[in-house]
Amino acid sequence: MTALILDGNALAQKLRADFKTRADALTARGAQPGLAVILVGEDAASQVYVRNKVNACAQAGLRSEKITYPADVEPQRVLTRIAELNADPTIHGILVQLPLPRHFDSDAVLAAISPDKDVDGFHAENVGALMQGHARFIPCTPYGVMKFFGEAGIELKGKEAVVLGRSNIVGKPMAMLLMQANATVTVCHSQTRDLAFHTRRADILIAALGKARFVTADMVKPGAVVIDVGINRLPDGKLCGDVDFPAVSQIASAITPVPGGVGPMTITMLLANTLEAAERKVGRDG
Ligand code: GUN
Repeated sequence: MTALILDGNALAQKLRADFKTRADALTARGAQPGLAVILVGEDAASQVYVRNKVNACAQAGLRSEKITYPADVEPQRVLTRIAELNADPTIHGILVQLPLPRHFDSDAVLAAISPDKDVDGFHAENVGALMQGHARFIPCTPYGVMKFFGEAGIELKGKEAVVLGRSNIVGKPMAMLLMQANATVTVCHSQTRDLAFHTRRADILIAALGKARFVTADMVKPGAVVIDVGINRLPDGKLCGDVDFPAVSQIASAITPVPGGVGPMTITMLLANTLEAAERKVGRDG
């Protein structure tokens, strides 16, 4: 079997088709959607992600403000800036690129963002709302993954879903969304005994552990749907996912490539959340 390739660029383009119209409609009402992106330090991957987010905003008619700090910045300066952005009526979404340098208390930084502007969905209040089943903002990467299932007509009800990785950014919210879609969910992590035992049972396998080509064909059930959230840089500079794509695509029924799979969808859902935040605000303000 050769897997259906779930094309993130194509789906992103399809979903973004009406973003410009929505952004322009808000702009015409004097409320151009605005996203503030805060980047602390010089991490190369984070710089690329932030640049991609800023470029995507420009293409979709959103205003973005990139705010950078050196790695050794005093955390209070960042918190003060977040407080200003919370009060700024031209900013509808605030994103702090993670990971932050070690001297930061990341939870405290995320808690400083107004939950109404928390387009990443990482504020404890929004995490709680997601857990209770009435999410205000769904974290962008798992949200994008759910869009693949919807687009390809992949049924989740009653399926065995296995999530590799338990991060706050991907693994935990992903598990929550799959559970809400009536899948039976197993979350595996670095301390899981016999990981392959779990992955081989998976109808839906989500790899989000950050290890290049970790998931090999012998770990995958024939016909499984495989979603690769990993973005790893190989010594030769090329990008690759957490899944051994050439081998696994021979036995899976559907699979996302890297690059061109989950990555473009993450940014698309960030735009969607920012538009949503701006539309809600206009709705509130009348
Ligand atoms: N770092 C890796 N992924 C993400 C994300 O989705 N949002 C933020 N803020 N930081 C990240």
